[in-house]
Amino acid sequence: MGQILGLGITHYPNLAAQVNMSWRMQSVLADPKLPEHLRAVENWPPAMRAQWGSDRGQAHSDQHRQDLIDNFRKARAELDAFKPDFVLIWGDDQYENFRDDCVPAFSVLAYDAVEFQPWKGYRRGRNAWDEPEDHTIRMNGHRAGGKYLASALLTEGIDVAYAYKPLHHPLGHAFSNSLLYLDYDRKGFDYPVVPFAVNAYGRWLVASSGVPMSPTTSAQLPDAETDLDPPAPQPWRCFDVGAAVARALQRSPWRVAIVASSSWSHSFLTRKHSRLYPDVAADKRYYAALQQGDWDFWRNTTLAQVEDSGHHELLNWFCLAGAMNALGRKQPDESAFLESWITNSDKVFAVFRP
Ligand SMILES: [Fe+2]
Repeated sequence: MGQILGLGITHYPNLAAQVNMSWRMQSVLADPKLPEHLRAVENWPPAMRAQWGSDRGQAHSDQHRQDLIDNFRKARAELDAFKPDFVLIWGDDQYENFRDDCVPAFSVLAYDAVEFQPWKGYRRGRNAWDEPEDHTIRMNGHRAGGKYLASALLTEGIDVAYAYKPLHHPLGHAFSNSLLYLDYDRKGFDYPVVPFAVNAYGRWLVASSGVPMSPTTSAQLPDAETDLDPPAPQPWRCFDVGAAVARALQRSPWRVAIVASSSWSHSFLTRKHSRLYPDVAADKRYYAALQQGDWDFWRNTTLAQVEDSGHHELLNWFCLAGAMNALGRKQPDESAFLESWITNSDKVFAVFRP
C-alpha cells in the first residue's frame, strides 16, 4: 500500500532573484491608475506600513527571504526523511506550456525527463546563486506514476489530460521554481517528479498572456469583465481531484510526496485592493481552517470567492486539501504562515507526515 507525504510550499519567483521583494508594490505605487488615497502610507493597514518601514520594505524583504529559505530547508528535510519514489507537484501554468492552442483544466505531465535553463533570458538581474546563463537542470520524470494517476482519475470519471512531452515550454515556473527552492543548497534533486498542472489563472490566462510574470511592468491585468477566458476549474473540483489522487496513490506500490506549490493571495490578482496588496485577512481564514482540519470550509469555497481574494493560485492547495481530507489528516504536523503585505503575497508552508 502506498505511503503519502503531504507538503505545501510556494514557488514565489522573487526568491530566485537578488532584489528587494517589494519591487512590484513600488511599481504599482508609481502607476497613475492607482487611486490617490492608496498612495499615502498613512492610509495603509498598520501591518503593511510597518513592513514598508522607512527603507521601502528592504528590511522586511531580507527577513522574508531568510524565512522562506529556512522553510524550504525544512521541507527538503521532510522529503529526504521520507525518501519518495516520486514527487507530485500541483502547480499553475501561467501561459507557459499551455497557450492559445490548448488549455486543459488539469494535466498530468508524465514525462520521462526534461531539462530547463532557468537563467536563459532571465529578466530579474542576478539570480540568488549567481549561476551562469547556460546553467541546465535536469528533472527526472516518473512516466509510470503519471500514467497510473491519469488512468486512475479517468477511471473515476475525472477527465484529466496527460502529456508525455512539453508543448510550448520545458517546465513552467510553478514547477521549475519549486525544484530550485527545494534544492536551495544545491545538493541535487534526484527525486523523479510528476508535475500536475492546474489552470489556476482561468479567466485571466490568455487574457493576461502571462503579464504578471513580467518584472518590467506594474502588471495590471484586464479589469473589464468582457472578453476574458473560460474559468478555472471549480475549487470543489480541485478538492475532489486531490482526493482521487490520494486514493489512487494509497492503492499504488509507491511512496509519493504530494506537493501544493503556490503563494496564497496575490496582490496583482486582488482587484478590491487596487492590486496593491493581497487579501491577508482571507489568507488567515484559510490558514486557520487548514490548521483545524476544517476541510469543509475549503471545499465550500466558490470560484467567485477565489477570484475576489486573489486566491487563483490557491487552487493548487485545494487539491492538497482534498487529498488530506481523503486521507483523514486533520491538521498539519508542521506549518508556517509568512505574513507579507508588500511582497505580493503571503506564503504558507505545511507538512502532513504519513
Ligand atoms: Fe504561479
